[in-house]
Amino acid sequence: MSTAILGKDLVGLEPLSGDQIRAILDTAEPFKEVSERQIKKVPALRGKTIVNLFYEASTRTRISFEFAEKRLSADTVNVQAAGSSISKGETLVDTARNLEAMRIDMVVIRHGASGAAQFLGARIQSNVINAGDGKHEHPTQGLLDLLTLRDHFTNLAGLKVCIVGDVLHSRVARSNIWGLTKLGAQVAVCGPATLLPRDIAELGVTVFRHVAEAIQWADALNVLRLQLERMTAGFIPSLREYNRVFGVTNERLARAPKDILIMHPGPMNRGVEIDSDVADGPHSVILPQVTNGVAVRMAVLYLLAGGSPDWAAGGGDTA
Ligand code: CP
Repeated sequence: MSTAILGKDLVGLEPLSGDQIRAILDTAEPFKEVSERQIKKVPALRGKTIVNLFYEASTRTRISFEFAEKRLSADTVNVQAAGSSISKGETLVDTARNLEAMRIDMVVIRHGASGAAQFLGARIQSNVINAGDGKHEHPTQGLLDLLTLRDHFTNLAGLKVCIVGDVLHSRVARSNIWGLTKLGAQVAVCGPATLLPRDIAELGVTVFRHVAEAIQWADALNVLRLQLERMTAGFIPSLREYNRVFGVTNERLARAPKDILIMHPGPMNRGVEIDSDVADGPHSVILPQVTNGVAVRMAVLYLLAGGSPDWAAGGGDTA
């Protein structure tokens, strides 16, 4: 199996070079068109067996991986903690080794522990793709965000992107920071001090304490959900207070010097980190992000399986 563009696994964007990230985005471009066809299927991964192993809840990531796999003609199985022997205490490695005994080729894993994907990748032969591990990384979300930004701005070099909200608990923030900086964008974060990692500036990002400052600066805002399920202490006084101080509202955006592209990885807490009229407004690309998620995941699966980045140039369907 060729590993020309990527290694065996995709655990994050931190280990990738800018050229590797660009190659994934370029490979995703022709895959966008496959999802617009009446028959949304190409034979690129025919004969491959892929397990989607989800220890945490997911709507967008799990379903778009499954669509991506099916549109590439792979055979797919979904395993969730509830209803499998994971709920009886079987370990991650035992679960994966039993799946490998059934001759699988790839595992897509979402797990609550940071480092779970890397841990698994070092212990099994199948390709491992991180679909979100704890507070570490969510690389395919980072990639789909980059693809969406590239759709709108063409060149990301010098682009000003501010990540607003609960950066502390966010794997999406980390993947965005790594991906954006490797492609030459300027990155800022904005949120309450309690929801920003203390060492965040060391990643080369600007820190804004007031959302009004971020709005004056940014070309695009990536608004993050308050991850209430990961909060073990009182990080904010109340949801209403958070919206009053850090919520992205049309009233605040009206003071921006230019139109700002609005992104959100989902799921949204409407009326908390983002108001509905912004989420559903003319500058929102929240649903195009989801659409791009399928193409990006097709590209990652295809490249990890040893595919050439010029899939479309090779005839597409016959790759
Ligand atoms: N963006 C994202 O990871 O959404 P899900 O949790 O629904 O997969």
